[in-house]
Amino acid sequence: MCGIVGMINGHPVAGDLVSGIQRLEYRGYDSAGVATVEEGRISRRRAVGPVSALRELIEVVPLSGHAGIAHTRWATHGSPSEANAHPHVVGEVAVVHNGIIENHDELREELLRLGREFASETDTEVVAHLLDMALAEGLDPMTALDVVSRRLRGSYAIGMITSRDEDALYATCHNGPLVVAEHPGAAFLASDGAAIAPYVSEICVLECGDRVELRRGSLRIVDSSNQTVDRPRRQVESREDEHSTEGYGSFMLKEIHQQPAVLERQLAAFADPLTHELRLPQVATIAKQDQLVLSACGTSFYACQLAKYWFESLAGLPCRVELASELRYRSPVLGAGHGAIFVSQSGETADTLAALRMVRERGVPSLVVVNVETSAMAREATDVIGTLAGPEHGVASTKAFTAQLFTLLAAAIAVGEARGHSTRQQTADLVRTTLGSIPQAVELVLASSARIHAYAATLADAPRAIYVGRGPSFPLAMEGALKLKEIAYVHAEGFAAGELKHGPLALVEEGTPLIAVCPHDSLFDKTLSNVQEAAARGAQPFVLTDADGLGRALKLGDALALPTLPRLAQPFVHAVALQLIAHHAAAAGGKNVDRPRNLAKSVTVE
Ligand code: M6R
Repeated sequence: MCGIVGMINGHPVAGDLVSGIQRLEYRGYDSAGVATVEEGRISRRRAVGPVSALRELIEVVPLSGHAGIAHTRWATHGSPSEANAHPHVVGEVAVVHNGIIENHDELREELLRLGREFASETDTEVVAHLLDMALAEGLDPMTALDVVSRRLRGSYAIGMITSRDEDALYATCHNGPLVVAEHPGAAFLASDGAAIAPYVSEICVLECGDRVELRRGSLRIVDSSNQTVDRPRRQVESREDEHSTEGYGSFMLKEIHQQPAVLERQLAAFADPLTHELRLPQVATIAKQDQLVLSACGTSFYACQLAKYWFESLAGLPCRVELASELRYRSPVLGAGHGAIFVSQSGETADTLAALRMVRERGVPSLVVVNVETSAMAREATDVIGTLAGPEHGVASTKAFTAQLFTLLAAAIAVGEARGHSTRQQTADLVRTTLGSIPQAVELVLASSARIHAYAATLADAPRAIYVGRGPSFPLAMEGALKLKEIAYVHAEGFAAGELKHGPLALVEEGTPLIAVCPHDSLFDKTLSNVQEAAARGAQPFVLTDADGLGRALKLGDALALPTLPRLAQPFVHAVALQLIAHHAAAAGGKNVDRPRNLAKSVTVE
């Protein structure tokens, strides 16, 4: 959470810095700021609200420095206000920070006792004071960063400029993402390569404890033991269309519509188009284990819950699913014979990363299913499968979710074959009939979304909504409810349909919306009975089913037939329908679907 960018160049950099943090706005959008060094002085502009407010400010009151740092904030310590916005300037130092300084209270006490005065409520300001003191004691900036970092607890990436030197930027990171790059006459740092991709074709991903000095055309990286090091370079591509909504009106809607193309891309990458063999060697280690634990947060957790059905039924592998935020603080029984799968769009989620590290310390092999393949999780896991969804800007996970499902379904099929639970021929049949049917079916849902649009508008002002499903449709019900809460701010919960009578039915009153994920499969009758019981008590059902279930569903209320698909492919069309319901409900209620209140896309703090 929070995005940082730094640049040094042969011309004023403030405008480019603001464009850089605009590309990182998914990381936080409470307030933003920029500082540059000009004639031996640090000058700064800050604004509350989206980065566009900062851009308007610097157009009126420009900055002229050729070296600078910028920040887009997701508030952790202190409200979103100008005083709390970064950069924080103390004496000759300006600092931007992403992450959390856990011991900031005790450091602040100590600094107050030394007579230091604070201008903000942030944890970051203690870092600015400590760096200012270290420089005042005569340390050079790289040594000051080292000395100060050793006093900090938590996870962070820090960028710094000093008024002493107009030709340098400095940065360090500890369990927080940070990339750097140079080209002749310039150098750059950022939380994510996307921010600087228009200027460079290669980036270095810094490792925990690295410090870096950036000058025009050069980088000097030293590791935590003070050795000068080179970090591997990775390609970055600047795709300006990725930073535009391309006529969809929102990133979320654009990303929902990108799903058929993402699924096609995955099919082409994971399976041989002629033989239909799966090409997923990354599952070999997991396939040898006796038990699996799947772990993640939020939407990615629901992807794990669905995948549990697949690993059990397709691979005969006992599975449990754990919230990463819980797993990391337990003493789970994990060891020989266990394998772990972690799922994440960003690859940065603090709790998932911590759970991965805990599992790794126990010698348990890990497979990470991740969209951002340069992320910490991708670097630290035993094996990695990239979900190939492309950058996702909307805070709500949409194409990342279906890409996770597709990857996990393909992985479960591959593990089943590797374990002798199924034959090569059965794999080929599943690839052809199930995986192969998904992209086009999703396309059909998108093409006929008018019906969903009309229904969703009725949810915009609902005080609450209930989602139900059974079997694999239960995690989808929870995911659908999360989507509605997240962007439409309607209180929604997803329940296992069979649990309604055990309590949640008491929530039903006249007109309560009840969205049922109810494909016409072996569980159809059971789920429909539960819907009927709720309808008898005033609930207004909207049943997502298919052609075979439509007639009976319509007798209970509103219903929609989604494409008829093989059983294992059904969740994909339901997932997309649920995304559209949430999107259209939020849009009908006038909400900002891409930037929901209080949220950020990458949750890099606990
Ligand atoms: O990047 P991750 O997949 O690890 O993120 C996990 C959750 O924060 C994320 O899925 C969140 O729940 C989404 N915003 C929901 O749409």
